[in-house]
Amino acid sequence: MLSSPSSVLYAAEPGLDVDEFCRVLLESGLGATRPTGDRPRMRQMLDQADLVVAARLDRPDRALIGVARSITDFSWCCYLSELAVSPSAQGLGVGKGLIDETRRLIGPRVSLVLASMPDSVGFYERIGMPRQPDAFWFKRSE
Ligand SMILES: CC(C)(COP(=O)(O)OP(=O)(O)OC[C@H]1O[C@@H](n2cnc3c(N)ncnc32)[C@H](O)[C@@H]1OP(=O)(O)O)[C@@H](O)C(=O)NCCC(=O)NCCS
Repeated sequence: MLSSPSSVLYAAEPGLDVDEFCRVLLESGLGATRPTGDRPRMRQMLDQADLVVAARLDRPDRALIGVARSITDFSWCCYLSELAVSPSAQGLGVGKGLIDETRRLIGPRVSLVLASMPDSVGFYERIGMPRQPDAFWFKRSE
């Protein structure tokens, strides 16, 4: 368990390594709902993303402890598809920090939208993200 959130660096990482990405997803539990066993598909998810924000420890190994992957036009809308924090760093503000950095990078003209996992609803409520009753979704079939 980390003791302080002040040792975390947030930055866009367009070249994030697919194995690092999968590791954090799997550690957080979100990997169970993503095709982590299909590396070409995961690599395409990174390659075709518009914004990947990484949270790394400010120490020599720059260990990845969190990630936020979004699709956006940087003009009107942004869909945050994956937000994940390693268990050792949860509860220290890293999830909120990743959302804050994503919002900073897309700017005030762009809406941020996402679909929460059931266990994370309280997190989005806690950080003050408004809930929308009129969102719709065609689920993927594969
Ligand atoms: C959800 C997740 C991203 C939150 O990241 P985190 O770094 O632990 O969250 P933060 O420390 O920034 O939390 C901010 C606040 O929300 C609270 N919070 C965090 N997770 C919460 C949860 N699941 N339910 C209710 N409150 C939560 C924190 O206690 C904190 O409250 P505080 O302001 O009183 O200190 C992280 O728990 C995670 O990776 N979960 C597994 C993967 C997942 O479900 N991702 C979301 C997909 S939609």
